[in-house]
Amino acid sequence: MNAHVIVLGNEKGGSGKSTTAFHLAIHLLYEGYKVASVDVDSRQQTYTQYVVNRRNWAQARGLRIPHTTHYHLPLSRGDSQRENQKLEFDLFRQAIMDVESHADYIIVDTPGYDTNLTRLAHSLADTLVTPLNDSLIDVDVLAHIDPVSGEPRELSHYARLVQRARKERLAIDGRTIDWVLVRNRISMLSSRNMRLVQSGLDQIATRLGCRVADGIAERVIFRSLFPLGLTVFDELDEELLGGTPTTSHEGAQQEYRQLVHALNLPISDRARARREWLVASATPQPSSLFEHVTA
Ligand SMILES: Nc1ncnc2c1ncn2[C@@H]1O[C@H](COP(=O)(O)OP(=O)(O)O)[C@@H](O)[C@H]1O
Ligand SMILES: [Mg+2]
Repeated sequence: MNAHVIVLGNEKGGSGKSTTAFHLAIHLLYEGYKVASVDVDSRQQTYTQYVVNRRNWAQARGLRIPHTTHYHLPLSRGDSQRENQKLEFDLFRQAIMDVESHADYIIVDTPGYDTNLTRLAHSLADTLVTPLNDSLIDVDVLAHIDPVSGEPRELSHYARLVQRARKERLAIDGRTIDWVLVRNRISMLSSRNMRLVQSGLDQIATRLGCRVADGIAERVIFRSLFPLGLTVFDELDEELLGGTPTTSHEGAQQEYRQLVHALNLPISDRARARREWLVASATPQPSSLFEHVTA
């Protein structure tokens, strides 16, 4: 497989998987890489809605902004669960096979619940990003923290799911999954809770063999970006945004850049050469290279 697969996972809704997945994808596009995205959440499809919002907004405003090649599953229906699962498996495999040889990165957004497909997606990850809201309730998705000592005790269901995925991956092609925990929606005010979360995560990371990256603060800007399908990496001027950009935009952009840096993503020689050419060329217009958009 040529493409580097980045999976967003956390068995908890509302932790910021879809928002982070979308931001990573658009950032990598602006950096000149070929990016495909796959939405494995067949119930909520937040990522897909983000994609649709972006396309609609771009069309309505005549904007030339980059888009990923996007795949999503059909909305899950109530009839035969087994048939649905098989269909989803087949569609997912097909999507990955379609793009693996020509995308630099494939971003996979997973749901906040455990399905066979969620497990398969985790096993395929080269980089697994787990956003966690800044509270001990969210840390509990990885391991139960002793309320007295603050030390992690028993591993939670999701942590075990990732451990199994890692084993499976090792058996398949001898590769390891780089697992990165990211605190999200961090409060601007420091508190005892925050310190507990930080130290709990550090200890969990040591125990699970994963890393903790600097996080993303709680910012209202994310609420206004979703309906327009925009990210903090788009040039949020009045024309693009249809209103005045807020000051939190630059701060959020900076944090996401730091996150990408911390992910330490490998860059293939091919992707590096293309990017250098793009940067050196007189008209570096990523948008003109990414017209192929499928839903
Ligand atoms: N850093 C942030 N600051 C403020 N709101 C955020 C932030 N990250 C995500 N959100 C909001 O949290 C909600 C859940 O995010 P989402 O990405 O859909 O989570 P998940 O995919 O894990 O369910 C959304 O309303 C989103 O706009
Ligand atoms: Mg989601």
